[in-house]
Amino acid sequence: MARRVCIVTGGGDAPGINAVLRAFVHASSPDIDVFGARFGFEGLMDDETIVPLPIAAVRGILPKGGSILGCSTRVYPFFVPVPGGSATHDLGPDIVARLQRLEMEGLVLIGGDGTMAAAKRFMDAGLPCVGIPKTIDNDMGGTDQTFGFDTALDTATRAVDALHSTAESHRRVMILEVMGRYAGFIALESGVAGGADVVLLPEIPYDIARIVEKIEERERLGLRFTIVVVAEGAAPKGGVVAEIEGGRPGHLPRLGGAGARLALEIERACPSAEVRVTVLGHLQRGGSPSAFDRALGSRFGAAAARLVRTGEWGKMVSLRGTRIESIPIEAALLEKKVLDPQGEYATAARLLGITLGD
Ligand code: F6P
Repeated sequence: MARRVCIVTGGGDAPGINAVLRAFVHASSPDIDVFGARFGFEGLMDDETIVPLPIAAVRGILPKGGSILGCSTRVYPFFVPVPGGSATHDLGPDIVARLQRLEMEGLVLIGGDGTMAAAKRFMDAGLPCVGIPKTIDNDMGGTDQTFGFDTALDTATRAVDALHSTAESHRRVMILEVMGRYAGFIALESGVAGGADVVLLPEIPYDIARIVEKIEERERLGLRFTIVVVAEGAAPKGGVVAEIEGGRPGHLPRLGGAGARLALEIERACPSAEVRVTVLGHLQRGGSPSAFDRALGSRFGAAAARLVRTGEWGKMVSLRGTRIESIPIEAALLEKKVLDPQGEYATAARLLGITLGD
C-alpha cells in the first residue's frame, strides 16, 4: 500500500490555500496518497470527512480563492466545549487514534500560530506533523512571509487608492480599518503603498493629538482631506484593543471597532472634521490569490511534500529571504512576529511624512 498522509487547514482561509493543496498533491504523487480534512479541524473528527485528494481533485484550482476543502474556526479540538457548562473536552487523542487507524503516516497542517500550536500538541500525542505557514496577518514566526498576506495587502492598498478621490472631493477624513490582529503589517504596508497620511498600528499606541496635528497641518497646506489607515488591533495610549467578542480557550478575541472609535475621537478633538469610516473586513481574505501568493503557496506545498517524503517530520516550511527553508515547529512558535516601531519600515514611513500616532 502507498504511504498515506492527511492535510488540514487550521483557522480561517487565506488566498493561496488551493495553490498549497495542488502543489502538495502533485509533489507527493505517486508515492504518497494524500487525504484532506473537510472544514478544518472539524473534518478530523469523523472518518467520513477525511477524503482522498487525488490529482484530479486539484486540477484548475490555482486561481480560486478560499479552500476546496473548506475552512472553519468553530472548533479547536483540544478545547471542545462540553454542553451545559464551561468545561472543555480534549479531542486531540481521539484524532490521533483516528488518523493512526486510517494508517496516516502524519498530518500536514496549514495555518498560523494557533495551528502550529495544535501541531505541537498532536506531535506530543505521538502524531508526526509538518507545518505550512498561512495567514493574511503575516504574524507567524519562523518565516519572513506567510502566504495570503500579499493578496490581502493588495486589496487594502487598492482600498486606500479608492478612498483618495472621494476623500478629496468631499474634503473628508477617511478612516480605513484593516485586519491584521495584533500585528500592523497590512496597515503599515498598505499605508505606505497607498500614500496614507496617518497609519495606526497595534505596535504603537496612538496619541489623538498627533492625528489632529496632521489633519490641521494638511489643511494649512491647502490639502483638505486626510487618509487614515487603522489596524484593527491599534489602540490609543492607555486604551485597550477594540473587541467584538472576548476570547475563550483555543479562540482569540474577535477584533473590530477600532475605526469607529477613532472617528469619535477625531470628531471630539477636531469638530470641524467630517469623518467617515470604511471597514475592509473579509474582503481582505477573499478573491483570487495574487501571483506571489500562488507561487509562494506552490513552493511551500512542494517543500512540505519533500519533508514528508524524506521523513523530516516536526518542521514548518518557511521563506527566508528568497529561499524556501524549514524550521522546527517549536522554534517557529517561540518567535513572535510583530512590527518593530523603530525598524526600517516604520522609519521609512515617518520619513515619508506619515504620522504613526506617536
Ligand atoms: O487571522 C486572520 C484574520 O483575518 C484576522 O486578521 C482577523 O482578525 C480574523 O482573522 C477574523 O476572523 P473571523 O474570520 O473569524 O472573523
